[in-house]
Amino acid sequence: MKRMLSRIVVASGLLLGSSAVSVAYAADVAVAKPDAAKGEQLYANGDAARGILACASCHGAAGNSTIPANPNLSGMPHEYLVKQLGDFTPKDDKTPPARRGPGGANSVMTAFATALTPEDRQNIAYYLAQQQLDPKTAGNATKEATMERGQHIWRGGLPERRVPACAGCHSPNGAGIPGFYPRLSGQHPSYIEEQLKLFRSGDRANNTIMHDIADRMSDADIAAVADYAAGLR
Ligand code: HEC
Ligand code: HEC
Repeated sequence: MKRMLSRIVVASGLLLGSSAVSVAYAADVAVAKPDAAKGEQLYANGDAARGILACASCHGAAGNSTIPANPNLSGMPHEYLVKQLGDFTPKDDKTPPARRGPGGANSVMTAFATALTPEDRQNIAYYLAQQQLDPKTAGNATKEATMERGQHIWRGGLPERRVPACAGCHSPNGAGIPGFYPRLSGQHPSYIEEQLKLFRSGDRANNTIMHDIADRMSDADIAAVADYAAGLR
């Protein structure tokens, strides 16, 4: 019965999540047809005239970051990336961005994202979505002791605490699902862990479903599933 209930929660969550974001996306898409070459240029070199640092200096060549604090972006869904760049940007002087860092402070990304035009976001996201995860620099699982726990949560969730299976939305192999479900396989485990804690604290307030999921998980659950997810391929 409990298992049944958690399936229903997942299904309705999926519907709610996608209808809310597709409205926001539709408004952005109307701007321009994405241009991967322009996206690559801005990603790799930045734009000194506009004070935009090269994204590659932190996120690595073609979105394969070698620094664990900076997420891998290669092969992430186009729409997901566009949404994040919007969520880092404050709507006006009085409203903080929906996606913030620890303690509610602006994320390091807020300044960079705010400097981008809607066309820039579309172009960079389109370019990154076409890149491949580099197995040489990708994140990996390293914690043997919590592997089984992580796999249990990934595949079956924690029905007793109404945590749905991660695999249902991030796909069984962690590759994500086109549209709005990010890839977690090969992501740096410390980044995954940090994001789950930011969802839980509400500093990353750009997705209600992920807040509710993280809110029902202990630090140990979060660490176990973050490590396991990173090791998926
Ligand atoms: C100084 C280093 C730095 C630079 C330069 C930088 N980023 Fe980031 N980026 C980060 C960090 C750190 C995070 C994680 C932020 C957080 O959790 O609040 C991040 C997060 C992101 C995310 C969210 C990824 C996800 O999985 O949700 C996107 C998208 C992104 N950056 C795109 C860009 C783009 C595009 C540029 C260039 C215009 C850029 N970044 C420049 C450090 C950087
Ligand atoms: C009902 C669907 C759903 C389920 C189940 C789900 N997620 Fe998510 N998750 C999402 C969506 C949608 C996003 C993107 C949120 C946004 O727009 O920022 C996301 C984002 C994330 C992110 C941020 C990734 C990044 O690149 O910043 C992490 C980490 C994450 N989920 C981990 C998990 C884990 C671990 C589980 C299982 C305990 C899980 N998710 C279960 C839908 C789901």
